[in-house]
Amino acid sequence: MPDALSLSNVHVYHGEICAVRGLELTCAEGAVTALLGRNGAGKTTTLSAIAGLLGTRQGRIDLFGAPLEGRGPEAICRAGIGLVPQGRRIFPSLTVLEHLQIAYRAPRHAATRVFDIAGVEALFPRLRERRRQLAGSMSGGEQQMLAIARALATNPRVLLLDEPAEGLAPQIVAEVADAISALKAAGLSILLVEHNLPLALRLADTCVVLSSGEVAWRGAPDTLANDPDLMAHHLGVH
Ligand SMILES: Nc1ncnc2c1ncn2[C@@H]1O[C@H](COP(=O)(O)OP(=O)(O)O)[C@@H](O)[C@H]1O
Ligand SMILES: [Mg+2]
Repeated sequence: MPDALSLSNVHVYHGEICAVRGLELTCAEGAVTALLGRNGAGKTTTLSAIAGLLGTRQGRIDLFGAPLEGRGPEAICRAGIGLVPQGRRIFPSLTVLEHLQIAYRAPRHAATRVFDIAGVEALFPRLRERRRQLAGSMSGGEQQMLAIARALATNPRVLLLDEPAEGLAPQIVAEVADAISALKAAGLSILLVEHNLPLALRLADTCVVLSSGEVAWRGAPDTLANDPDLMAHHLGVH
């Protein structure tokens, strides 16, 4: 059985600047893989390349063994990649329900769990209560839930989450963390970028630390949590 997601020797550029260099990364099916690193390490660039928003200059990206690189974002979404972008990127003048209706794709694979609109609303009851509300009038936490719900409505096989806890109150961070745990329990494969290290270490099965676009360390969350020097050096945690 191939990995859910596999990147091999991936290079991604912004113009002439190489932001991701020779990246090797795998996400096992049903696991949470945390992609960590300081600001500017190349985490968002990596997720953007997987989702087809940025081209790769070299390397392979496979989803359950099928190549993704060179395909556009819409084709990659249909193939089963769901991206929750950094900063949420919701549409302020659309309602919650409109976001979900536009995003919805019937699953094209043997899904462990099917997310129709009722299914995503069951995960985030706050969204059901706000179906008709304009997304721009919701709180940051509600917008983050909507961004996750919108990605789930595409019925992804692999969910990419870029800093889902950024700028949220602790109570909302806990709700988002519970939702991610529930998705993992439902068998979804998840690549999680998160600056909130306790949260990332709690959710992750395995960690990959990026530094200047290259893998600086990879291993188990417990090993990272118990190595203050490693955390200080690569993550700026003291
Ligand atoms: N649109 C862009 N144009 C030029 N350089 C960029 C752009 N986006 C990111 N970069 C650069 O690429 C590197 C990686 O950025 P990014 O992937 O956003 O890091 P992270 O998500 O880990 O904070 C940084 O040096 C950043 O300045
Ligand atoms: Mg980023």
